[in-house]
Amino acid sequence: MAENLIINGENKRELYETLLPQLQSLTAGETDVVANMANVAAALKQTFDFFWVGFYVVKEEMLVLAPFQGPLACTRIRYGKGVCGTAWKDAQTIIVPDVEQFPGHIACSSDSRSEIVVPIVRDGKVVAVLDIDSDKLNEFDKTDAEYLERLCAILPF
Ligand code: SME
Repeated sequence: MAENLIINGENKRELYETLLPQLQSLTAGETDVVANMANVAAALKQTFDFFWVGFYVVKEEMLVLAPFQGPLACTRIRYGKGVCGTAWKDAQTIIVPDVEQFPGHIACSSDSRSEIVVPIVRDGKVVAVLDIDSDKLNEFDKTDAEYLERLCAILPF
């Protein structure tokens, strides 16, 4: 069945308000985690035209690349390494206004300028992270963190 995404809003908050209920109903009707990550990445990319949107899933003590939209990316990230590995270790959202100022940032693309990583926590453990990169400095703020955390909380995992 084809799915149509409605993109509506004059600012970030309104765009998220339109997007979240759609993602909630889309993912609630599908039990496959990969299928859900794929559609969530596509919907975020389509709504905000972020440079890179995707997931890394915890597998065998590493973060392993999962569905994403954007340029090719590194496939494995160690615990505590880079922004993603740090968000995994700390189990907290990390907003990076300028990737060059984040010690140990892993540059999958030299075009990436700012980043947000949101851990997905189930039963007290991080099972995956949602990673979004922008080619603009200072793209992400508390509004992104608030809505992306809500999104990560409702994703069936
Ligand atoms: N920059 C991330 C690596 C993943 S890519 O951005 C897709 C990091 O430092 O963990």
